[in-house]
Formats: sequence, C-alpha cells, structure tokens
Amino acid sequence: MKRVVFTLLLAAIVLAAAAIVTAYLGLWPVAATATPPGWENALAEKTLHASLERQSKGLTNPLTASPEVLSDGLKMFKANCAGCHGARSQPSMWGTQNFYPRVPQFADQPSKLSAPQMFTVIKYGIRYSGMGAWQGMMSDEEIWKVATFLEKIDKLPPEVEAQWKSQ
Ligand code: HEC
Repeated sequence: MKRVVFTLLLAAIVLAAAAIVTAYLGLWPVAATATPPGWENALAEKTLHASLERQSKGLTNPLTASPEVLSDGLKMFKANCAGCHGARSQPSMWGTQNFYPRVPQFADQPSKLSAPQMFTVIKYGIRYSGMGAWQGMMSDEEIWKVATFLEKIDKLPPEVEAQWKSQ
C-alpha cells in the first residue's frame, strides 16, 4: 500500500514538473485563433456554470421583464456587447473566429444561464477569456436590464422583437 501511494505521489510530482518546465520553455500554445477542442469547451463550461450557480445563490432579479426594461436592455446590448456577441442575423466575425474560447452568439444560441447568473458574469467578468467585468462601467440596474433582455432574447414581446430585428 505504501509503495502504491509513493508511486502515485511521484507520478504527480513528475507530471507537475513536466507541465512547469514545458510552460517555461514556451511550449504551450497561446494563440486565440486556434479552434478550442470540444472536451476543453465542455470542461470549461461545466466549471463556469458550477461556479456561477454557487456565486449567484440568493441573488434575485429586482426587475420585471416589461417591454420598457427589455427595450433598455436591448439598447445596452447593441451598444456594448454586440461587437463580440453579435446582433440579430448578424454574428460577430471577430467573436466567432478570433477569441479562445469563442464568444457565444446569443441570437442563435441563447445562454442557458439565469438572469442572476448572467448578472454575476456581466458585473465580474470571466477570467482567462475575452469577457471583461463591467463593474464601474455600468450601474447594477443597467446590468440587470441587459441580463433580463438576454434571458428573454428568444421570447421577446412583438414591439421589442421588432426593435431587435431592425439593425
Ligand atoms: C470583447 C468581447 C466581449 C464583449 C464586448 C462582451 N463579451 Fe460577454 N463574453 C465574451 C466571451 C469570450 C465569453 C465566453 C467566456 C467563456 O465561456 O469562458 C463571454 C461570455 C458571456 C456570458 C456567459 C454566457 C454563457 O452562457 O456562458 C454572458 C452572459 C455575457 N458574456 C454577457 C455580455 C454582455 C451583457 C456584454 C455587454 C455588456 C458582453 N458580454 C460583452 C466576450 C465579450
């Protein structure tokens, strides 16, 4: 038993040392243009969603999804986010090709996150990705508005849907 534990420990140390040495030798790729493999996307998404679920516990959206709130959120999205996340029928070339991980295009693939989880992402950002924090750039109310819009992006009332369609 002792020998097995020792062997496992040694293997872990050798692997960690190999990772550090290859990193210092510059052997790890860093270009954002490479296509992220499916397993890496799946693992990163699982980690992100589990963390957001935990961080957003107890947080509730203070706004109701009225046409006014959704329309304000839509305007903010178009002004600040569409450059990366795309607009309706207009995916962002930059976002779909030049980021690692790629930027989700919400018009085609609405986020599975709840509004409080999106609030957390928008306010605090996501490490090691192109998603920066908007803390200090947008008020909490504005963040809730854009999160509410994103939560309802595929079920907007007709007047807001018309605004979303018009570029
Ligand atoms: C410079 C490009 C860029 C801009 C601008 C940007 N984002 Fe992002 N966003 C990203 C990237 C990249 C990701 C993916 C990060 C990941 O999966 O780890 C992301 C992820 C997200 C997510 C999580 C989606 C999910 O389902 O996991 C939300 C919500 C989000 N962004 C909202 C916004 C909002 C709202 C704005 C504008 C206020 C915005 N983003 C502006 C690059 C951007």
